[in-house]
Amino acid sequence: MKRLAVFASGSGTNFEAIVKACADGRIDASVAVMVCDKPGAAVIERAERLGVRSFVFSPRNYSGKEAYERVIVELLDSLEVDLVCLAGYMRIVGSVLLNAYRGRIINIHPSLLPAFKGAGAVEQAVEYGVKVFGITIHYVNEDLDGGRIIAQKAFEYDGSDPAEVHRLGQKIEHQLYVDTINKLLCEL
Ligand code: GAR
Repeated sequence: MKRLAVFASGSGTNFEAIVKACADGRIDASVAVMVCDKPGAAVIERAERLGVRSFVFSPRNYSGKEAYERVIVELLDSLEVDLVCLAGYMRIVGSVLLNAYRGRIINIHPSLLPAFKGAGAVEQAVEYGVKVFGITIHYVNEDLDGGRIIAQKAFEYDGSDPAEVHRLGQKIEHQLYVDTINKLLCEL
């Protein structure tokens, strides 16, 4: 059975959706580890509740990105992880992790890329006044939110409340991420 690592920094609703999909067979894999760069993030409690091993670190306790990514790569290697799924991991992936898992790191982003890259994508889109929002799943490479697109889904919203866009988007994210991960695993 294939093994996933899920990286998250915040709430972890996508992480939970992935774990549940693994448990009920919608994803033919298991979540070997949840990696979190924010001690105290809600996703850590979720991992405990769901019985998923977690690795939580504080970047400031390391000399730099290369140092903590070396520790992460060692851990992923030891767990024989096949696919790394970034799910609200709000940190740029560096060369150590990229080179070790190139082509096997994917990210979910709350906009129709290439529009609204980076942090605060939903807020950027609302500020711009768009009427069609969306979700993108893409490979991770050196360019911020710039890797090859794997899947996208759009939805219409004619308003100005970012919280509502987040709510509408998250419903789509969970389903889209689960379906996309499962499809990718079949190709690995
Ligand atoms: C998700 O909406 C995801 O698209 C976004 O963070 C949220 C995490 O939610 N990711 C980014 O903005 C990446 N640039 P969750 O913690 O509830 O899964």
